Amino acid sequence: MKGLILAGGAGTRLRPLTHTGPKQLIPIANKPNILYCLEDMRDAGITDIGVILGDNQPEKVRELLKDGEPYGVRITYVVQGAPKGIAHAIGCAEDFLKGGPFCVYLGDNLLKGGIAQMVRQFEASGAEAGIALCHVTEPQRFGVAELDSKGDVVKLVEKPKEPKSDLALVGIYFLRDSIFPIIHNLKPSWRNELEITDALENLRAEGARIAAHIVTGWWKDTGKPEDILDANRLVLDELQPRIEGTVEEGAEIKGRVEIGRGTVVHKGAVIHGPVIIGRECQIGAGTYIGPYTAIGDRSVIEVGDVENSILLADVHLATHHKIVSSLIGSHSHISEDEDARPKGMRVVLGEHSHVRL
Ligand code: TTP
Repeated sequence: MKGLILAGGAGTRLRPLTHTGPKQLIPIANKPNILYCLEDMRDAGITDIGVILGDNQPEKVRELLKDGEPYGVRITYVVQGAPKGIAHAIGCAEDFLKGGPFCVYLGDNLLKGGIAQMVRQFEASGAEAGIALCHVTEPQRFGVAELDSKGDVVKLVEKPKEPKSDLALVGIYFLRDSIFPIIHNLKPSWRNELEITDALENLRAEGARIAAHIVTGWWKDTGKPEDILDANRLVLDELQPRIEGTVEEGAEIKGRVEIGRGTVVHKGAVIHGPVIIGRECQIGAGTYIGPYTAIGDRSVIEVGDVENSILLADVHLATHHKIVSSLIGSHSHISEDEDARPKGMRVVLGEHSHVRL
């Protein structure tokens, strides 16, 4: 089976972070989201993988994934350009995909437990297509599926006002060549996209059987800042402690903490896990790094009080203001005036931001 990972899209809900790169590259617990998808595919035995590139700095995706060799897979890039919909993206990859069943994985989705079981289940089902579903509390925000008593799909609706089920479509699809003529005949939706739910619904209306796989672990679509922080928390909940850097005597490390090579945690710093800190960082005396924080490589926390936040690489922090539930782009600087009064702060900062409090 071949694979297709989608790394296009506009990512408007994640601005300003997506002004400087595709959202699929935003790190969750210090690893770009798209790498979780790639590894899930590889671990399920899918090593011939197409990657859809959009029009927002696609070269950054190529720089990270290269030809796939570093990750044990073979990558073929397919340029979609402007985001004309998930079904459009799949249609762009027809030449690469045709000839056998294939698995599509949205590059901003994250799943506990991988996809190996799903792949086996689809292969055994003999169904024309397969979708992954997850019980959610707000189905009206998602594509929703209704199932029959055998567990097959009987209807698919995009963001229904009055959902008939709480089963949302997870961003993983199993398809065959039969989807391509349907995609060629699709009309753009109200948001001017070729919708995958419409393509699947048309396939089903032609009499094809669509099997469903219900995901039992957690699933996250990291389309919005709060989803990214949620995903970060879920991954950090499973973090294994590992200290490769230097922790000076007099620094306090509690709970599960990973500290990368070349990082120094200075005397007087306090870190309460789960926390992940990348390579070659400086964590200064008088700094507190609280639970569910991820700090990217080469960041310097001169002074800081951070909790439940993601700092990308090369961030410089020198403030007594508490930073909570924040996403801070790489190369950002946060400092303060000497007479500034400490208060809590919640921000989403793009790359190269300078903030003086
Ligand atoms: P969405 O999150 O639905 O769309 P988007 O990326 O345009 O984001 P926003 O709504 O914030 O502007 O896309 C789901 C996934 O599919 C995501 O990984 C991006 C990818 N995608 C493509 O590769 N090509 C496309 O044309 C579209 C619409 C999405």
